[in-house]
Amino acid sequence: MTISRRAVLLGATAAGAASFAPSALGRMPLSRDTLPRSAPVRHLTLAAAEMEVPLLGPDKPKTAGFCAYNGTPFLTWRAPAGTRLMVDFENNLPTPTTVHWHGIRVPYLSDGVAPLTQQPVPAGGRFSYDVPLPDPGFYFFHPHCDETGQVGRGLFALLMVDDPAEAKLGFDLEHIIAVKDWRLDADGRWLPMFTDEGASTAGTFGTVRATNGSVIPPRVEAPAYGDVRLRVIVADSTRTIEFGCETSDAAIIAVDGQALTPLPLSKLPDEVWRMGPAMRLDVHVHMPGPGEEVKVFDYRTAEPYLLTTLVAVDKGRKKTSFKPKALPAAKAPLPDVSRAQKRDFIVQTSAGATAIAPPLPPDDPLAKALIDSFCVGDKTFWAINRNSWGAGADLRLPPPLDTLKDGDSYRLSITNVTKHVHPMHLHGHVFRVLSSTKKTTIPPYLADTVMTEPNETVEIAFKAASGDWVFHCHILEHMDAGLMGWFRVA
Ligand code: C2O
Ligand code: CU
Repeated sequence: MTISRRAVLLGATAAGAASFAPSALGRMPLSRDTLPRSAPVRHLTLAAAEMEVPLLGPDKPKTAGFCAYNGTPFLTWRAPAGTRLMVDFENNLPTPTTVHWHGIRVPYLSDGVAPLTQQPVPAGGRFSYDVPLPDPGFYFFHPHCDETGQVGRGLFALLMVDDPAEAKLGFDLEHIIAVKDWRLDADGRWLPMFTDEGASTAGTFGTVRATNGSVIPPRVEAPAYGDVRLRVIVADSTRTIEFGCETSDAAIIAVDGQALTPLPLSKLPDEVWRMGPAMRLDVHVHMPGPGEEVKVFDYRTAEPYLLTTLVAVDKGRKKTSFKPKALPAAKAPLPDVSRAQKRDFIVQTSAGATAIAPPLPPDDPLAKALIDSFCVGDKTFWAINRNSWGAGADLRLPPPLDTLKDGDSYRLSITNVTKHVHPMHLHGHVFRVLSSTKKTTIPPYLADTVMTEPNETVEIAFKAASGDWVFHCHILEHMDAGLMGWFRVA
């Protein structure tokens, strides 16, 4: 596995590794809080560890070295919005890790990004995370250190932040669809998660497709003429899906956990929503009559892949027409778009990208320690505005892409000039997706990760909040191979 060589020295060298210290920019940002100190607190323990799981199916060899939180693959936590989670984390993996709370507006010192906001938690180490949950929605958490290897082997968990007002909407069933493939050989052993060929193109795909961990697409019973809330996440490191349902009675009601005016799937180009790694979707499906089915597909592959089948069972309900249910409006702070300052970013290959600092001579012992110690890769195939994070021996924390002002609004235009899709994720904020040169009919919506297609320019806007925040592609090999930068907001 590609992680072990880098991981060995990590505990020993991490502290001295970052030669661009974040403090070099002067005043460190305040670690903002998004809930009052009086908010109700839940104390939770979280442990990451390896376990053995029958991933290939019941009568196939089991897979060792699966990584899970609290011994539970696909662990799901729920809490009401407005709660603060105080999480006592223990790393029982043999390698360093961190925990990143994807999409949640946490104080940046709890954002889990090594080496920017914390040092990696070594094997056997602990870390406390302060995780306020200001915004209802569908989130998840995962490591931000050797992410390709650890997420590839299963390390992530789901986090549902509930709004009590949603109970009134009267969904009959909530069902989670987690898309996550496995990269295994026929004997259930892990194959390398990072390959140069994959990392420099669309990513290295799993060999076995699965939904909610099962290679057999789940069948789920729901009341005929009832209302189902599907909560869909691409938890895979690589795969992009085109989510669609075999019914016209379906509407998107939230993207990345953030409510939007219900958007019927039938109004979308090709009636699908393209979702890359980390993206979530809440979909309201109105069920047909008894005995009928709604098949949910990934239409991106030549042969559509069946994700899940909803089976309508008679519960005595009468036929009703489809009325999409609107979730309560999202509450995250919105940017002032008319006054937003414009910034342009180009997502490109690293060919031609300049190194951001002169590399150390390869025989310098520090250079060797850096390669072995960082959570990012030692290969560079991608760049943002000619900056790659993690180029060969030059694995130091780069200077930020930009320094922004706390409370100011920014409008980023992101242009993908590569041949591959890149789902771009900004930490610590919910942003507004304003426009796209390719998806011109989709009204603005809120998200934390946005897809950029080849030759597409996407504009997002956000109100900057104090902290050091990374901005990266969520195809994990791309991120590990340079497609990451960071902003300082102070
Ligand atoms: Cu899912 Cu940098 O994050
Ligand atoms: Cu990418």
